[in-house]
Parts: sequence; structure tokens; C-alpha cells
Amino acid sequence: MSGEAFDVVDLIKLKRDGGTLETAQINWLVDAYARGFVAEEQMSAMAMAIFLNGMGREEIRDLTLAMIASGERLSFPGLGKPTADKHSTGGVGDKITLPLAPLVASFGVAVPQLSGRGLGFTGGTLDKLESIPGWRAKLSPREFQDQLREVGAVICAAGASLAPADAKLYALRDITATVEAIPLIASSIMSKKIAEGTSALVLDVKFGSGAFISDPKRGRELAETMVRLGTDAGVKTVALLTNMNVPLGNTIGNANEVREAVEVLAGGGPADVIELTLALAREMLTLAGMPDADAAAALKNGQAMDTWRAMISAQGGDPAAPLPVAKEQHAVLAERDGILVAQDALAFGIASWRLGAGRARKEDPVQHAAGIDLHAKPGDAVAKGQPLFTLFSEEESRFDRSLEALAGAYRIDVPGSPIENGGPLIGSRVD
Ligand code: URA
Repeated sequence: MSGEAFDVVDLIKLKRDGGTLETAQINWLVDAYARGFVAEEQMSAMAMAIFLNGMGREEIRDLTLAMIASGERLSFPGLGKPTADKHSTGGVGDKITLPLAPLVASFGVAVPQLSGRGLGFTGGTLDKLESIPGWRAKLSPREFQDQLREVGAVICAAGASLAPADAKLYALRDITATVEAIPLIASSIMSKKIAEGTSALVLDVKFGSGAFISDPKRGRELAETMVRLGTDAGVKTVALLTNMNVPLGNTIGNANEVREAVEVLAGGGPADVIELTLALAREMLTLAGMPDADAAAALKNGQAMDTWRAMISAQGGDPAAPLPVAKEQHAVLAERDGILVAQDALAFGIASWRLGAGRARKEDPVQHAAGIDLHAKPGDAVAKGQPLFTLFSEEESRFDRSLEALAGAYRIDVPGSPIENGGPLIGSRVD
């Protein structure tokens, strides 16, 4: 007798055959996996059974709560201001957190943003910020609380104590082709966000080629599942569904994305980055009890920029220091006159990753100056010989593989041609 409450093989069989796991079974499974009693190969089988057969509403809630219970749950008593956070399901050129956190914090809302690093072709907020000389992602719990009180915005690395069962399961899903299951994505993201202690949360759920989930209907299902999990756990949660078929803004990488975020904080920047930043800021401010706050004015009048500078300095960064510049660059020119009608987010994300901006394994370093600057976006008129985009890397040898990823990923057509995967940037809202 092992003294254990359940036999894991029975639970795998139950899920494999389309059954429903009960609360006690899920609690035991997550705990037994976290302490190493349930083996990786057994949890792989369970993840695949969940991937194939799905989970009911109660099962997803139980899984989320069990992963939260595997670690620490933060709270901010005595902070004296409301808290609000945002989470994006990940995309290409998605630097929105960088202007958004200081923008919202500049109105007196605390933004406790515990972020991750990029894996695969989607970038990570911490990797982007680490291109700022001196900036550090790791804060002690004391530094985190002090910065939240004094500056309002903190973007830092999540400690190992936050939903550790999710960290273990996520690493396993990554190598067993079980990432893209809605119950698993929703419980993974929401366990970390609920454990982080925010009282309000705005989700940017992306659909399209450069997102985890390409189908908008499945994106909506993911959004609804996450909003329900947040609400049931007492976190005011809303989601915006946003289009990730085309890279966001004009930069993909790390340092170049920081440069673009600073342009937005200085009152400029690309229209799509401004639109999404303001839409998410308004949702966060509304949930924090400030529906009338003028977020657009705060980008124009320097209010958000002041908080950005304070946020970067508080973590050792020099907001005025020049950002790193890549040794090598390669411009791709338009081969004909016309209209740019396609720019596929997934291909540009992979191309940027191959330039060194992303990592293949968790322990790999990233090249902060590597990436892609886009000089034209779908719908723009272009002239033969004009640069369409520029690749940046520390190693010239990376350009060929990056260009291979871009074959067929952009197209110039005659004026009046339809834009591929066009449509509004911001789709529906789920609350
Ligand atoms: N991000 C997470 O944290 N978990 C997932 O499952 C997918 C994206």
C-alpha cells in the first residue's frame, strides 16, 4: 500500500475514456505530480487525455485552484491603491505591456506584472526590458512591494514559488505537443495571474497566425474560459479578442521593441500599438474604478513617460542610455510598385527568432539587438526599390535562414487588391 488516496493509472484511464475527474482526484493529482510521486510519463499521458477529451467547467476550475495551491498566493494589504494587471496570450511584436503598465500606474493604480521570458517565436517582456542597460528582472519580495507602493508599476520575473505545479506541467506540455488545449492554457495562465494577487485583470486573447490559437472562435472560447476562472476566483476579469495575423507595430525583437514603446510613451508611435495600448488601459482603469481617466492625454503630456522612467530606474536601468545596436543588418527591398497586401505574423516571428531575438531552450541567451524593423504595413503603397523591412543580427550567417522563413510571407499587389487577413485589430470583448 502506498498510502496515496488514488491510483494515477485509474485517473488516466478515466480521463482517457471521456470521464470527469472529481475535485479530490484533481487536487491529489496536482499535488502528487508536484512532489514527484506521479511520474512525468504518467502526467504526459494525462495531459494528452485532457488535450483529446477536454475538461468540464468544474474540472478546469479545480485544476486552476490546485495549481495555485501548489505555491504561494500574493496579496497586497495596506497598499492604499487599487491593483490591475494585464496578460497577453502572446504574439509577434507584442510590446504593449511596456507602455501600458506605466500608463495605467500613472493614474495611481498599482500594476503588479509578473512576466516571463520568450520561448519559441513569441517574445518575452523580460527579454525586451533586459536590453535596457542595467535593468534587472529579479526583485526581492520587499523590493517588489516597495516599488509597487512608490512607483506603481513593476514588471519583474515571477519567483519559483508562484504556481510551481504549472511551471512543471508547462515544461512537460512543451515537449509532448499538449500546449494548445484550452483547459490547459486557461488554467496555466489563470493560476499564475490569480496567485499574483491582482484584484482586476484584463486579458488580451490573441487569434490569428501569430497566436497560440489561430481560429477566432477557439480564441473566444479561451477568453470565456479564462474570464470565468478569474471571476469565480474573485478577480474582476475582462478579455479583448485581438487580431494577431499581422505583426503588431513596426518592430519585432527586443531593443527595437523597447524603442517603439518609448515612442508611444512620448506621444508618437504606430497607430496599432497606440490603439491597443489605449483600449487595454481603458479596461484596466475602468476595473480599477477610474472609467473617466484620460489615457490618451497621459501619453501626450508626459505623465506616462515619467512613470516609465521611474519604473526603469527603480530596477537599476538607465532610461536615457542608448539601446544596443546590431553589428549586421540586411534590408529587403520591394520588387515592384503596388500595395503591400500580406505580412504574415507567424513567419515574421520565426524569422526574428532565427536572427537571435528568441530562444529555442529556456537556458539560451537572446541577442538584444536582433530582430526586424518593418518599414511598410499591409495597406501601404510601396515603390520598387523601397525597403520593406530590415533584418538585424550579431551574425551575418543568420540572415539566410531568417529569409527562408519569410519566403511567401509578404506580397505586393496592384492597388485595390484586398488585404490578406485584414479586419479590425480589436474584435469582441468578453466579460
Ligand atoms: N502561457 C502560459 O503561461 N501557459 C500556457 O499554457 C500558454 C501560454
